[in-house]
Amino acid sequence: MNYGQFPYIRGRRLRSSEALRAMVAEHNVQPTDFIAPVFVMEGNNKKVEIPSMPDYYRYTLDMLLEEINNLQRAGIRAILLFAKVPDEKKDNKGTESINPEGLMQRSVRTIKEQFPGMWVMTDVAMDPYSSYGQDGIVEQGKVLNDLSVEVLSEMAVSHAEAGVDMIATSDMMDGRIGAMRNALDDSGFQEVGIMAYSAKYASAYYGPFRDALDSAPGFGDKKTYQMDPPNVREAVKEAQLDEQEGADIVMVKPGLPYLDVIGAIKKQVSVPISAYNVSGEYAMLKAAAGKGWLDEEETMLETLVGFKRAGADLIATYFAKQAAKLINRP
Ligand code: PBG
Repeated sequence: MNYGQFPYIRGRRLRSSEALRAMVAEHNVQPTDFIAPVFVMEGNNKKVEIPSMPDYYRYTLDMLLEEINNLQRAGIRAILLFAKVPDEKKDNKGTESINPEGLMQRSVRTIKEQFPGMWVMTDVAMDPYSSYGQDGIVEQGKVLNDLSVEVLSEMAVSHAEAGVDMIATSDMMDGRIGAMRNALDDSGFQEVGIMAYSAKYASAYYGPFRDALDSAPGFGDKKTYQMDPPNVREAVKEAQLDEQEGADIVMVKPGLPYLDVIGAIKKQVSVPISAYNVSGEYAMLKAAAGKGWLDEEETMLETLVGFKRAGADLIATYFAKQAAKLINRP
């Protein structure tokens, strides 16, 4: 071999053309990787932009159906539904969350009727229904675990009765995946799946989302149940437990500051992993792009492929439609 000419090995050869770069790309992002979160509210013929989430809207159900049609046309196959609950329907036990005629239940029924091919997931959590804005029942300033799990299990069954394909559990109570799996099975919903928010961190990046649903905690924070940001082995433990309890997919949330957590979990569990590119991550990029400080499209795609590189199989992202359109563009 001739080592005479420096440099003998030229990595740049593989980067020399668009075609070759695409051929040797180790990861890529497809519209089928995305889960599009959608926000529904009561009323008719209205959409309201979420102030801290430019270009992102809360819709009344009639208008949400049009948006779901747009998502479907862009190649999105899965949505994650969140409902905004009027203040007067909130209480400590989240009673409205199991109302068969509640907004969430009505939305699931209608969406599945009109878009049978769309994979419909629902957020199962008490905070949008809680007068305290907490993910569980509050007693003497504390969020109770086991009683909250009972409510969450009823909520899961109620969403299943409405026709949901998979529930997404964002509460972080202990034992909830096993309890919900049992509750679903006992009610004949063996086929309804569970996506567990296994490693959900107590994060400041959820701020804009809480604007969208008006669900900020009324007192304190969520640090006694959501995970502490410095921990990664604990996240692996949570994901393993959820897998054993019957989770079909595990999730890491937020996404960007926790890419290492996705990688660590990937080595230890066999179920698919979803990353949640949360509201604050969306807001940061939109704000910088809005000021002309970042190129929105390039930064968005770079971010999304970063989740795949870290080991995520799926990505819940507010960029789903925009990214899918860009990826599909000939
Ligand atoms: C509620 C819930 C939250 C998010 C998803 N489900 C907020 C929270 O826990 O306070 C955050 C999503 C986002 O920021 O995009 N249980």
